[in-house]
Amino acid sequence: MANRFVLNETSYHGAGAVKELVPEAKGRGFHKAFVCSDPDLVKFGVTKKVLELLENDGMAYELYSEIKPNPTVENVQAGVAAYKKSGADYLIAIGGGSSMDTAKAIGIIINNPEFEDVVSLEGVAPTKNKSVPIFAVPTTAGTAAEVTINYVITDVSKNRKMVCVDPKDIPVVAFVDPEMMATMPKGLTAATGMDALTHAIEGYITAGAWELSDMFHLKAIEIISRSLRGAVDNTPEGRADMALGQYVAGMGFSNVGLGIVHSMAHPLGALYDTPHGVANAIILPTVMAYNAEATGEKYREIARAMGVQGVDSMSQEEYRRAAVDAVKKLSQDVGIPADLKEIVKREDIPFLAQSAYDDACRPGNPKETSVEEITKLYESLI
Ligand SMILES: NC(=O)c1ccc[n+]([C@@H]2O[C@H](COP(=O)([O-])OP(=O)(O)OC[C@H]3O[C@@H](n4cnc5c(N)ncnc54)[C@H](O)[C@@H]3O)[C@@H](O)[C@H]2O)c1
Ligand SMILES: [Fe+2]
Repeated sequence: MANRFVLNETSYHGAGAVKELVPEAKGRGFHKAFVCSDPDLVKFGVTKKVLELLENDGMAYELYSEIKPNPTVENVQAGVAAYKKSGADYLIAIGGGSSMDTAKAIGIIINNPEFEDVVSLEGVAPTKNKSVPIFAVPTTAGTAAEVTINYVITDVSKNRKMVCVDPKDIPVVAFVDPEMMATMPKGLTAATGMDALTHAIEGYITAGAWELSDMFHLKAIEIISRSLRGAVDNTPEGRADMALGQYVAGMGFSNVGLGIVHSMAHPLGALYDTPHGVANAIILPTVMAYNAEATGEKYREIARAMGVQGVDSMSQEEYRRAAVDAVKKLSQDVGIPADLKEIVKREDIPFLAQSAYDDACRPGNPKETSVEEITKLYESLI
């Protein structure tokens, strides 16, 4: 079967990239935007940076901000109802993965109303029509939802994060502007950056990886591991490189899938509202060690991309350990906790393990796994 690759129609990168938004909207003949953002971004004036551009040009918009981190089915349904009343003809998502994913679900349901229950969109849903056109302005450097064909919505009634995969939802234009990310506090920068590194590493070793996706993932590992510490210190270079690195990771993983780091992180978001990046960062080194035997020479290239010296003279055991250690070191340097002791309750592990096994990212894992083995992985982290 042929390998498919889906990317944005257009993307803008670098400081000031958001200034291209109004010309793009006008050039496409759009009249009114339905803007999805979250309450904190509105409060801290991040959303306003884009709204002012629209206002200065007399472009109409309506703001929808009932979006929580780890967004819910209800957030999507309320958004669909508001969109229908708004008279909008395109969506602008301003925010992290939560705002962008909510916009994607709204855009898909508006043009495929038979999926208005939201839960039937889990996995690969047989939607017929493209989403309402989406412009995406990421404000975190992590999920790369602006260039992915995925969105993740929480079904609160089942404590379940649903991964939805649909090439019809990809934003048409992405505005990847590091200045939109400069207000992120240290902890959020670290967590979202480690999410991006997880995408790059899981995407590089996932079952469906191939030469084209490898190119994006290795470059992303290199950019992210050299720039995340600087981004956490809020240097302009660190911010600019992280904005790019997370996007490059998204260009890759969106097209080939991930693995069980994400499968194990999703139930933590659903059950405990653990920030997605924190969950991934804690789980990543443990799952890397578990998966190592199914990755051939790939950890040598991960270690090299992370700046480890002398990888060519290392034995397989040495370069595999070096790759895992480099990830642990970066995680530690940016202040990520080493284990799940403060997060996971032992009695929840059977639910978490089953939920991780049922997650849409699990089949991409390079090594066959089982509920029992995932149980052991969680247990080793508490
Ligand atoms: N679609 C995908 O491909 C994909 C990939 C990975 C993760 N996800 C999903 O994305 C969600 C996580 O997204 P996220 O990590 O980007 O965080 P988020 O969107 O949940 O935002 C987290 C918090 O950070 C704040 N914030 C965001 N940008 C800020 C800024 N510039 N300054 C100050 N505060 C800011 C928000 O207001 C919010 O309170 C999860 O639901 C996850 O499952 C999606
Ligand atoms: Fe992620």
